[in-house]
Amino acid sequence: MQVQTGFVRTDPNSIIGCLTYQSRAVSRPTENELDQLVSQARGRNRQLGVTGMLLYENGRFLQTLEGPPAGLKQVWSSICRDQRHREIEVLTEHMVSSRLFSDWDLLLYSRDEDPRRTSRASDLAPHALAHYVPGMAQLALDGDDARLNARLASVTEQGWSADDIVSHLIEPVARAMGDAWLADRCSEFELTVGLSMLQLAGHAVRSHAASAAALRRSRYSILLATAPGEPHMLSTAMLADQFTDAGWRVEMAFPGSKEALANQIAQQGHDAVDIALSDALPRQRALLQLRETVEHCRKASPDNLVVVSVGGRMFAEATASAATVGADHARRSVGGTSVRLSQLIRQGRCP
Ligand SMILES: Cc1cc2nc3c(=O)[nH]c(=O)nc-3n(C[C@H](O)[C@H](O)[C@H](O)COP(=O)(O)O)c2cc1C
Repeated sequence: MQVQTGFVRTDPNSIIGCLTYQSRAVSRPTENELDQLVSQARGRNRQLGVTGMLLYENGRFLQTLEGPPAGLKQVWSSICRDQRHREIEVLTEHMVSSRLFSDWDLLLYSRDEDPRRTSRASDLAPHALAHYVPGMAQLALDGDDARLNARLASVTEQGWSADDIVSHLIEPVARAMGDAWLADRCSEFELTVGLSMLQLAGHAVRSHAASAAALRRSRYSILLATAPGEPHMLSTAMLADQFTDAGWRVEMAFPGSKEALANQIAQQGHDAVDIALSDALPRQRALLQLRETVEHCRKASPDNLVVVSVGGRMFAEATASAATVGADHARRSVGGTSVRLSQLIRQGRCP
């Protein structure tokens, strides 16, 4: 296949080419072969200022590459010549003003259902939805509400479940937006507006997908709180939809301090509390404070509160665990949380 980047550039420092393609592996790579491919690619991408993501799933590759047109063109011609894959098909090719994969020379997601292979982390995004993440993050950051909703509606029409959309699309989009902010590619205002839009779009998906009759059975109650002082509330809002659909009694809290949260818990006597840090930004420094908040909440309600759950980008990416902050459960995703917490409450009541 010939190199067809077709990039027209005006300012060599600010214009970034972005290319997404899919291809078929000639033979299934072993884990070692895949690691070797990626580590070589990372070295070269770094030298050429190229960043991106490579997804391998069941014999198929999907890759997004972004970088200065010259570097991108060089990598792309090597990729096209590579005998390890065939049926290379360009899906999108355009110029962008900022990167979405910021610090990743090449982020690898891989999943293979061949039983002869040792499978890798299985909770990674299915490629069809991962493909939408960069574009949707850009739409949210551009404040393009109409196209964001249209994109989401088209994904819903493809038949993905609400949990899939939340776990593999909305949450990764929030993280991509957080990366954009961390890399100074958008303002805090744009991030906040984008997260709110995402929240509304996620709400619409959940309400479409809820099959209420089957779900309204739980008798449990939960307090859904943002961590004290945390201004981002995307997952708290999405959890509210999910727990309501599942028939839980739901209260929400946006406390300014751990004492305020503990007071609410003491007064309302919930079975569980979920305390959320930002889904967009890794809040390393907030972990110690979150640990104290969890401790405080337990003391406030020693008899009733059975389960303390936490969430946020650091838990989703496993940079922190439930044990780090003394919680019973750390969400990797909003999807499936009500089911998991029901199990934990039952276990807590009848250990
Ligand atoms: C699916 C796939 C993705 C690849 N991605 C990259 C990449 O992002 N960067 C890179 O330098 N090489 C990548 N490679 C490897 C290149 O195709 C090539 O082997 C390597 O860059 C050496 O280039 P050369 O043969 O032109 O010397 C990839 C190969 C495959 C099969």
